[in-house]
Amino acid sequence: MTTNRRNLIAATAAALVAGAVALAPVVNAADKPAAKPVAPKAAAQPAGFPALGPLPPVPVPADNPQAAAKIELGKMLFWDSRLSGDGSSPCVVCHEPSKGWGDGGEISRGYPGTQHWRNSQTVLNSAFYNKLFWEGNVTSLEGQAPAAAEGNVAGNGDPALMEMRLRFIPEYVQRFKQVFGIEWPRINQAWQAIAAFERTLVSDPKKVPFDRFMAGDRSALSPSALRGMAVYHGKAGCIQCHNGALAADHKFYSLGVPENEVFKTEPLYQITHRWEHYQKGVTHAGYRGAALDMGLYYQTKNPKDIGKFRTPSLRELKVTAPYMHNGIFYTLDEVVDFYNKGGGDANWPNKSPLIKPLGLSEQEKKDLVAFLEALSMDEPLLMDTPALPSYQPLKASK
Ligand code: HEC
Ligand code: HEC
Repeated sequence: MTTNRRNLIAATAAALVAGAVALAPVVNAADKPAAKPVAPKAAAQPAGFPALGPLPPVPVPADNPQAAAKIELGKMLFWDSRLSGDGSSPCVVCHEPSKGWGDGGEISRGYPGTQHWRNSQTVLNSAFYNKLFWEGNVTSLEGQAPAAAEGNVAGNGDPALMEMRLRFIPEYVQRFKQVFGIEWPRINQAWQAIAAFERTLVSDPKKVPFDRFMAGDRSALSPSALRGMAVYHGKAGCIQCHNGALAADHKFYSLGVPENEVFKTEPLYQITHRWEHYQKGVTHAGYRGAALDMGLYYQTKNPKDIGKFRTPSLRELKVTAPYMHNGIFYTLDEVVDFYNKGGGDANWPNKSPLIKPLGLSEQEKKDLVAFLEALSMDEPLLMDTPALPSYQPLKASK
């Protein structure tokens, strides 16, 4: 064990003890009306980890400022199937508003004739990550959109062809001109507009019970959710990785999440698994085996990273089932049971020492789920389908 790791564990343990102590008054106060305004932030959270709390204003890159007309264009493009190879796979088919902006399946659908190999992540709050995808392989929404639209098992679109399509849609020509000041639509500006739209898909703190609680509304959390919050910070130690406003630390861990059986039985899934290994350049043995999604390893090629995935946000879980990189769990009860028994197989590659049996009672498990649910908006964020403009023939010019 490295010194760093030992220090981390010691610090973690100390923070948890401090947390358990600091949390006690909050929990006890739950059933009584608060006599005077309290500062829940200070009282409710253990030291040592970035505190949970309302999301800050969304980060916006200097070279792609937000603007209403850009966001509106981005919304149209998010829905527009012409930004995919055969016109079947716009962003929205795998990120449906009514399915928590994911696709609702264990493993996402793929481009026709293929099968994807991972669970479709929600795009809600994705603007807050500094690394996107389960293995963190892109660092901006502007970089993510082409990876999706061009990726062979997702949009499978050729960028030059997609750009040409946009140029044959007069309303887009006019909108790109208005938004970006360019004569003809360019594909990179399409990705910028989509990114600007995605930056509006965020949890509204007024609609999230936990955020209302943190803003001083002591009645926003039920007694059960309040107890669950103490379990989260204390006995269950979820705060060790799911911390900060997003409830995600932007780091990578192996929990031993069991593989999805479809990879053993379905050729289309196996084909994509091997193809991904080939694309990502794993060793010959790794390619032949293809038994496991190796996660972060594909980026670093460091064997210590096999099986690690980016910690996902715990916001909006009410609408984003099924869970984990391979959608293996359908309910939060299943997820909590998984953690309670110490995560997956003890011999799983690089399994995090932070994942160990928790000894939670039935009541504590229920309370923890109630707290997790309180991190979602009261109502899902739905959106109308935008009307999309049509192609027009261009007159040949000399
Ligand atoms: C065929 C299904 C499919 C299509 C089409 C698709 N996506 Fe995705 N999306 C996924 C899957 C699956 C993942 C997770 C992939 C991974 O981690 O390897 C993902 C991940 C993402 C993420 C990362 C979220 C996070 O938490 O890191 C964003 C953002 C996103 N997609 C936006 C888009 C946009 C924008 C488009 C259109 C240009 C698009 N997607 C098209 C399936 C799809
Ligand atoms: C060691 C860091 C760590 C700890 C501790 C931890 N998690 Fe996680 N959590 C992760 C990672 C990494 C993933 C993604 C794993 C994967 O997909 O293979 C994850 C996934 C999840 C998901 C699925 C989210 C989604 O969108 O698919 C939920 C829910 C969750 N964790 C809840 C919890 C709860 C509740 C606790 C406390 C009992 C907890 N986590 C403790 C790192 C951690």
